[in-house]
Amino acid sequence: MISAENNIFHLRNDFFSYVFEISKGKHLLHRYWGRPIKEFHDSAPLQGIDRGFSGQLNDFENERTYSLDVLPQEYPVRGHTDFRIPAYTVELENGTNITELNYSAHKIFDGKPTLKGLPASFGGGQTLEIELKDACANFTVYLYYTIFEDLPILTRSVKFVNTGSKKFKIQNAASAAVDFSDNDFEIISLYGGHAAERTIQRQKISRGIFEVSSTRGASSHQQSPFIALARPDATEFSGEVYAASLIYSGSFAAKVEAEQFGTTRLVIGLNPEVFSWTLAQGEEFQTPEVVLNFSATGLNGMSQAYHKFYREHLIRGKFKDQVRPILVNNWEATYFDFNEEKIIALADCAKDLGLELVVLDDGWFGKRNDDNSSLGDWFVNTAKLPRGLKGLADEIHSRGLKFGVWVEPEMVNVDSELYRAHPDWILHVPDYKPSFSRHQLILDLSRADVREYVLDAMRKVFSSAPIDYVKWDMNRHMTESFSAKLPPERQLETQHRYMLGLYEIMEALVTEFPDILFESCSGGGGRFDAGILYYMPQTWTSDDTDAVCRLSIQAGTGLAFPIISQGAHVSVTPNHQVGRVTPLQMRTFVAMAGTFGYELDITKMSDAEKAEVKDYVALYKEIRPTIQLGKFTRLLTGGNEYAWQFEDDSKVIAMYFKILSKPAEPIRILKLAGLDANKSYKLTKYLPPKKLSVDGGPQKISFDAKTFNGDELMYCGIAVPKIETDFAAYMWIFEK
Ligand code: GLA
Repeated sequence: MISAENNIFHLRNDFFSYVFEISKGKHLLHRYWGRPIKEFHDSAPLQGIDRGFSGQLNDFENERTYSLDVLPQEYPVRGHTDFRIPAYTVELENGTNITELNYSAHKIFDGKPTLKGLPASFGGGQTLEIELKDACANFTVYLYYTIFEDLPILTRSVKFVNTGSKKFKIQNAASAAVDFSDNDFEIISLYGGHAAERTIQRQKISRGIFEVSSTRGASSHQQSPFIALARPDATEFSGEVYAASLIYSGSFAAKVEAEQFGTTRLVIGLNPEVFSWTLAQGEEFQTPEVVLNFSATGLNGMSQAYHKFYREHLIRGKFKDQVRPILVNNWEATYFDFNEEKIIALADCAKDLGLELVVLDDGWFGKRNDDNSSLGDWFVNTAKLPRGLKGLADEIHSRGLKFGVWVEPEMVNVDSELYRAHPDWILHVPDYKPSFSRHQLILDLSRADVREYVLDAMRKVFSSAPIDYVKWDMNRHMTESFSAKLPPERQLETQHRYMLGLYEIMEALVTEFPDILFESCSGGGGRFDAGILYYMPQTWTSDDTDAVCRLSIQAGTGLAFPIISQGAHVSVTPNHQVGRVTPLQMRTFVAMAGTFGYELDITKMSDAEKAEVKDYVALYKEIRPTIQLGKFTRLLTGGNEYAWQFEDDSKVIAMYFKILSKPAEPIRILKLAGLDANKSYKLTKYLPPKKLSVDGGPQKISFDAKTFNGDELMYCGIAVPKIETDFAAYMWIFEK
């Protein structure tokens, strides 16, 4: 529900209230965000205090106690009396970047408008549109707020419109700013690197500005477009958390400023370091959308809300609510060294093991036998696949399996027919040599002619054979973000125009090929963000397939993104990234906590391993709906132990992982969460680490009772049988 009375806007549902007011007929002052309140009667009015130098910065000549430097705001402006991080900056033709945005009107309506050219959530309950105007420079800014009745979610975005006759340049346009009246927070963010994405970092807020950002032209492995402010006492299960997740896949910035009077400002949106946008008369600029999330039930509450929201209000298409096929991908099995025979052998084995989809990764096109050449040349290498993709796909289909293929459409190698024909199609600055990464260059998708080529090339590939799945990769970051087609004053638009171009291509392809399941990828999880999920419902989480590393990568990814969106595969030991040897059960259970698959040469497995895999695949088919479409809870995170719980209407599945075995440790009691205290749960499967069943030993527990009430499982918990082995993985399956 959204109300607007006596200059107060109150956005409210069963989970939160968000309140701001129009002050002095023009300023939007933020008043409250947190647990829901029925009515707002200003029990804690803003106090006008003459705050020395800040208090002397008066917005009204005779009022020493009214200064924007100390007032909480909704969309703060720079250049006047507020010296904190601004939400936007606009440079006018006269050279100034000092403007003034004042409230002029508002509208409340049902539903949620779409965002032109950008991915965005859909299906909201009500939207509030606030119109702000700069009367001198003649531009209008619209702030959009949408609430969703059944979730603690508030989405925000901003639109700039040039209503005057002179053009101006937007130098900075955040999607949202939020002011908090105190700074009693810890900041949670997700950092990483290639093959080490989304590690959870939690740190005390400190005075000054903290930033997570990317200038890489991708949301990146290094930082994720997500940030949370948690109360210091917030745990996985309790306490208040305020989070922001941006629906965007390019360069972004999220900043937190803890300022002089002990308040906190959060600003999130496009990264002004690599952005500007010139707006001519009548033109509009729309920012990406940010998803604000308030949890009064700790970090699990926050994650569960994001998972539900992204599954129900962001991910689209026929696979939205469908469990995903179990795949085998040939990348770590063969790398570039494959031919039709090898892939068919994989398919035969996949069929035998019960897998459902065979994915042909990099190396099937041009003359690509390593990563030096052929990106851009999207025609089949007939030396490897004499009967083309069609011949191979038909073979795979004839075995009752689905067929998928890898592409990397945004890139080009110098050694390619495409580059030889169009050397100017890449992002580069004239006169300077472009930088390389993995021998490749980036096609300038801000250009319509380049987009047309890419779209056409992909259309041809996708319709050249019966293709059920596409892995869309993007294996380098943007450098020399300069477009040969843009005039000098628009060069800083290149990165954002590229993203808009990419979204345009993806929109066209997912619309034209609704039966293809798309998985995005960027050197693993370098573009794992809510923007891409709008087009492609799953993402390859990381190029690191080691089960131990994956525990923290998947736990971090799950902070903001649903389980069903996380590609997770069983790979070979010793692991190709870290050389670790882990038991098949550990590798399997970790991969089962995502969209499951295999990424190793399954034909080389021993008969005993194959038999084990068959059982696991059959098991996964049984538990897949609960894992992929159910509710996910982190029971233990980090250190030596992780534990995860999945629940739907029929089942509760608990997984427990212990990385290293240690003596003199307490027996771990695993307490399940969120069950119904009065319902009973029947233990139908208990899978301890294999070693336990071989050795037996004093710790063998039989769980004789088999049926437990929810209260016992939550409060007494289940004892994890101790076992002297590293990399131990356990699973319990309860039927409701
Ligand atoms: C990236 C992907 C891998 C694989 C290779 C192929 O690194 O993340 O999974 O597809 O490219 O070159």
